Amino acid sequence: PVGTEYQAEDATISQGVAESNHTGFTGTGFVNYDNLVGSYVEFAVNTAAAGARTLTIRYANGTAVNRPMEVTVNGTTVTTQSFPATTNWDTWVDGTIPVNLQTGANTIRLTATTAGGGPNVDRITLG
Ligand code: GCU
Repeated sequence: PVGTEYQAEDATISQGVAESNHTGFTGTGFVNYDNLVGSYVEFAVNTAAAGARTLTIRYANGTAVNRPMEVTVNGTTVTTQSFPATTNWDTWVDGTIPVNLQTGANTIRLTATTAGGGPNVDRITLG
């Protein structure tokens, strides 16, 4: 449904860990990606109707360096999105990306593309 939130700590995590040692997250924590290329979080998303949606990714990046991630929907790359600095690890910012979903089951994977790994990811929302 529109507006549904999917917590990163409840998603499938590859080379990352669910943590709660910073403030301001929603749910029970966030995912700290391992600092390497290829670490990812994959969300299982169900939709009643196929179509264009807005994917919102809530993240924190307490470094001074971009932490880009490849956004893949159902195995197809949509874009490589920048996740620039958010001042500190307690400051969460929304990044938005247009995506197309199919009816029923979908997977949305966010994969780190640089050696720093991904930013800390709190959740995604589908508008
Ligand atoms: C720090 C921070 C982590 C973060 C990590 C990183 O260790 O506490 O939450 O994930 O830096 O650089 O990825």
